[in-house]
Amino acid sequence: MSAFVVAEAVEDYAAAHTTPVAPFLQALAAETRVALESPEMLTGEIEGRFLEFLVFLAQPQLVLEIGTYSGYSALSMAQALPPGGRIVTCELDPLRVAFARRQIARAGFDDRVEVRKGPALETVESLEGPFDSVFIDADKGGYHDYYEAVLPKLSARGLIVVDNVLWSGRVAQAPADDDSDSTRALRAFNDHVAADERVVNVMLSVRDGVTLVRRA
Ligand SMILES: C[S@@+](CC[C@H](N)C(=O)[O-])C[C@H]1O[C@@H](n2cnc3c(N)ncnc32)[C@H](O)[C@@H]1O
Repeated sequence: MSAFVVAEAVEDYAAAHTTPVAPFLQALAAETRVALESPEMLTGEIEGRFLEFLVFLAQPQLVLEIGTYSGYSALSMAQALPPGGRIVTCELDPLRVAFARRQIARAGFDDRVEVRKGPALETVESLEGPFDSVFIDADKGGYHDYYEAVLPKLSARGLIVVDNVLWSGRVAQAPADDDSDSTRALRAFNDHVAADERVVNVMLSVRDGVTLVRRA
């Protein structure tokens, strides 16, 4: 099953009609494929550009990212930060932390993008906020707790962006005994957000599914 929820030819067509990725991000993606496991976790050109657009529109002072991996999505967003804006991005894996920090420094964004090593929930607890933008893109079993931890610290016009909510379309299929823990967790998370009267949300079929959430 592909990580895209639209046909691959359509995804390729959309990518070919999207402003090309900056050379430093192209190099980061290429080096990620060589140096790190699971390069399919890169958000890629369309979603990276989409995140950059959201930051361009919202002009956030503080962005929180949960799930850094190699730094691709953090640096995509960093390109559109307003003056004084910054990103705190959370990562558990020390190899990925070191890799992302090198990439962020090389791209000249280390004054605005900080990688916090450790469990994301602990980092969220240690931050006062308010968060103007939050990008949730770590372990799927943690989504519910990340969402509940960041929502009280979201600024009045803040936006939560949640990745992989369609999980290659598996969440839309009838529940089965052999569903993975991630599939079950994402179904429960999506139901939780849809029923949450504190927020307004829209689920988009961008890449592997992206939900945007704001306060009601
Ligand atoms: C899908 S990848 C993030 C991809 C990244 N946002 C990008 O677009 O390039 C998810 C990352 O979350 C990290 N992660 C998983 N559980 C975590 C936790 N509890 N705290 C912090 N990071 C975690 C994983 O090590 C992995 O690198």
